[in-house]
Amino acid sequence: MAFERVGVVGLGTMGAGIAEVFARARLRVIGVEADAEALARGRGHLERSTGRAVDKGKLTADERDEILGRVTLTTSRTDLRDADLVVEAIPEILDYKVSLFKDLDGICKPETVLATNTSSLSVTAVAAATGRPGRVVGMHFFNPAPVMRLVEVVGTVVTEPGVVREIAELAGRLGKTAVAVGDRAGFVVNRLLLPYLNHATALMEQGVAGRDDIDAAMRLGVGLPMGPFALLDLIGLDTAYEVMGVLFDETRDRRHAPSPLLRELVTAGLLGRKSGRGFYGEEPARAEDRQRSEVVAFDVTGPGADELVERLSAAGFKRSADADADADAGAGAAGVVLRLADRPVIEHAVRLRDPATMVGVHLVGDRVAELATTVLTSDEAARAAADLVTVAGLVPVPCKDRAGFVVDALLFPYLNDAVRMHDAGYASIDDIDAAMRLGCGYLAGPFETLESLGLARVRDGLRALYAEYREPSFAPAPLLDQLVTAGASEFPRR
Ligand code: 3HC
Repeated sequence: MAFERVGVVGLGTMGAGIAEVFARARLRVIGVEADAEALARGRGHLERSTGRAVDKGKLTADERDEILGRVTLTTSRTDLRDADLVVEAIPEILDYKVSLFKDLDGICKPETVLATNTSSLSVTAVAAATGRPGRVVGMHFFNPAPVMRLVEVVGTVVTEPGVVREIAELAGRLGKTAVAVGDRAGFVVNRLLLPYLNHATALMEQGVAGRDDIDAAMRLGVGLPMGPFALLDLIGLDTAYEVMGVLFDETRDRRHAPSPLLRELVTAGLLGRKSGRGFYGEEPARAEDRQRSEVVAFDVTGPGADELVERLSAAGFKRSADADADADAGAGAAGVVLRLADRPVIEHAVRLRDPATMVGVHLVGDRVAELATTVLTSDEAARAAADLVTVAGLVPVPCKDRAGFVVDALLFPYLNDAVRMHDAGYASIDDIDAAMRLGCGYLAGPFETLESLGLARVRDGLRALYAEYREPSFAPAPLLDQLVTAGASEFPRR
């Protein structure tokens, strides 16, 4: 089927972005909103987004006019009668979607494909509400739709296979890559992404680390385009909350229960970028009030200490004289003992003459140093550690002395989830990797990341997380465990 006239119902951030994507690909678009006010907001989204592209020199003014000229805006659903495809992007409430699809089924010609951009709701439930379930699919775009290169095409048990193929081809015409998947809550990306975002809010609530530090760790340490809190603000906290709820309903995994903090923010109307404030926004600029430490001597222990010692010595710090041994190191003289470790350091701290001087250091990539303070660490030692690593050119991420600190605690369960998803037969390794790279702008997909970190390291890290948090789904996926036991360094791709 040739898709030339496309309807988009709902012109919020996502719907307007989707309309822009179609119009840029030279399709004619009919944008539908509930009333004149919502329509004006939708027009505003389209004008601002394309206006920004003109300002940046990515589009000429004429091209922008052509794009906008291909979009007709209306409040009348009956204007969709001749559309070849209608994509729905209304709020994530199943009843609204079911009622809309019933309506569209009556309005559109019989061959029209009806697609939902739902983040996680059942495509099957929406399809079943129509007299054409074989021509109903999920067409899931990612925010910001004009930028992110993935479309998940969701087929149900009753979708005609040809329809999934046609929509995947259409995604290619839009400059996107399609990954075809079945109808499970969250599909590939949200099923892997949202639990990680939820977990980040849990770590913050537990006081393991602060918002800015967690964001910095994941952005600068892991190389993600955004930290979890900045991304939650982009996605919309209400959307994130809804998706988590749907995931929880399907899995009953308590990690998927939306964090109480999300609920509180959503109830307060703090929804992220769309409402002007979420985890970020409207906060007074923070004065740089951190007291500088007076400590100039340090000690470094643990595996790989030499490189950090070199960096700190080059920055003018003095290693304390009696620095060598792990136990009984000259902590008193040093003021701060940095213990390089990827596990909690309290057991090392208690072996020092002065346990208050020990701070765990976990280097993440070449830019971030997680600084783990134990229940015994003094404020002065914590400050000194932050100063030292800052002068050594690293970004300090203060955190509690907990398994996985921040980065491994967030990253490893996500990798584990990807292994379980593949092992359950839901999606191939290549599709999962492509989906995360293109849908979230990651440099590497989860399997590529697992292989570059080392399967054994991730497996062992998961064991440590499981041992500490006793969270059943932190236990290494059997496939990962078996590959490590078999001495494999890669996942078999069949
Ligand atoms: N609309 C249109 N274009 C936008 C945009 C928007 N809202 N935001 C950014 N852009 C464009 C810019 O114009 C720029 O284009 P150019 O390269 O042609 O000039 C490009 O994107 C890069 O933008 P910036 O330089 O301003 O900013 P960044 O380099 O920081 O990139 C980002 C911004 C693309 C949002 C990047 O941070 C990113 O990829 N973040 C991850 C986003 C993500 O994970 N999305 C998926 C969320 S999950 C989801 O949507 C599913 C849902 O169901 C919940």
